[in-house]
Amino acid sequence: MKQTLLLKVNPENPDLTKIQTGAQIIQKGGLVAFPTETVYGLGADALNPDAVLALFEAKKRPLDNPPIIHIADSREVFKLAYEVPKKAELIMKEFWPGPLTLIFKRLSIIPNVTVAGLDTVAIRMPKHKVALALIEQSGCPIAAPSANLAGKPSPTTAKHVYEDLNGRIDAILDGGPTSIGVESTVLDLSVDPPMVLRPGGTTFEALKQVLDNVKLHPFVEAEKELPLEKIKSPGMKHRHYAPRAEVILVEGPVSAVKRKIQELADAYALKDVKVGILATDETQKSYEAAIVKSLGSRFNLGIIAQNLFRLLREVDAEHVDVIIAEGIPSEGMGLAVMNRLRKASGYHIIKAE
Ligand code: TXA
Ligand code: MG
Repeated sequence: MKQTLLLKVNPENPDLTKIQTGAQIIQKGGLVAFPTETVYGLGADALNPDAVLALFEAKKRPLDNPPIIHIADSREVFKLAYEVPKKAELIMKEFWPGPLTLIFKRLSIIPNVTVAGLDTVAIRMPKHKVALALIEQSGCPIAAPSANLAGKPSPTTAKHVYEDLNGRIDAILDGGPTSIGVESTVLDLSVDPPMVLRPGGTTFEALKQVLDNVKLHPFVEAEKELPLEKIKSPGMKHRHYAPRAEVILVEGPVSAVKRKIQELADAYALKDVKVGILATDETQKSYEAAIVKSLGSRFNLGIIAQNLFRLLREVDAEHVDVIIAEGIPSEGMGLAVMNRLRKASGYHIIKAE
């Protein structure tokens, strides 16, 4: 058991001495959790294989699922990757710093363990003062998966990180809740046309405005487990975002969804099964169940994304047996939300009509 150091930092104007404390830990091969604009990351020196191995161990993450490498200056890409296509430079200019991860062919300076033996690497420049200052002060690229135990919802507050990783990591930089709430979009630029492997904080609509040809991997909108040969991103094959409770996702027109969810909740209640409902502002009042929480308004999908992982954890903490979640439109930030909810449910999806 390690002593995990908690350092509160101002997200707008981070205290340099606290950032330096974190940076010294990274330089010595230690593990530091830090806020980004998407979710909290768990950082280690990406070029130090022992540190990255410790990162996998702390998270209990399978070794075949590589983390994203975080940089503070887009020129760093050329030290880590080759065959950086022209359109990549355009995309970096448009979207970095920001919630977009790019996949490139990788150079051998990156240890094998950091890329899980793949010949490609995932890189992003986060848009958060604490993250950027930590990378700059560490003087190395920082490998950082989300700072949760493998399989759990990603952390959007330092408290979530603490719940999962206290005693397993060296420090947590607490910069308050994250603003986007779901992880970055992963865009594969090692293939042509570029392909979105994971929907996230950068919408598909925004990518299409800059790229005339970009595709969604079938996994992004999958409604059931994909066969192994279709898997492109290692993260696709592992269980994800799963609270302790069973999750059921109900999709369809709102009025039908409302009816179906109440019907399910009533049937469970008769069997003494404790139910939590993840509703929206527009529907919340119409439900009767042990726990009913709203993800936000259907007219602001960005707020729903911001609340999603926190509410999955909060409802789970009420010791419900089943969480029933409302589906929302798969447009804009809704695409990432629906992808996470489908995975969290283990593809237990009910179509209401
Ligand atoms: O917003 C985010 O992306 C957060 C913050 C901390 O930056 N990080 C994050 O990392 O979500 P992680 O490790 O939880 O997710 C990284 C995803 C995984 O699905 C992984 O399989 C995929 O990126 N990935 C990493 N390297 C890859 C590669 N070379 N090819 C395809 N997918 C890759
Ligand atoms: Mg993760």
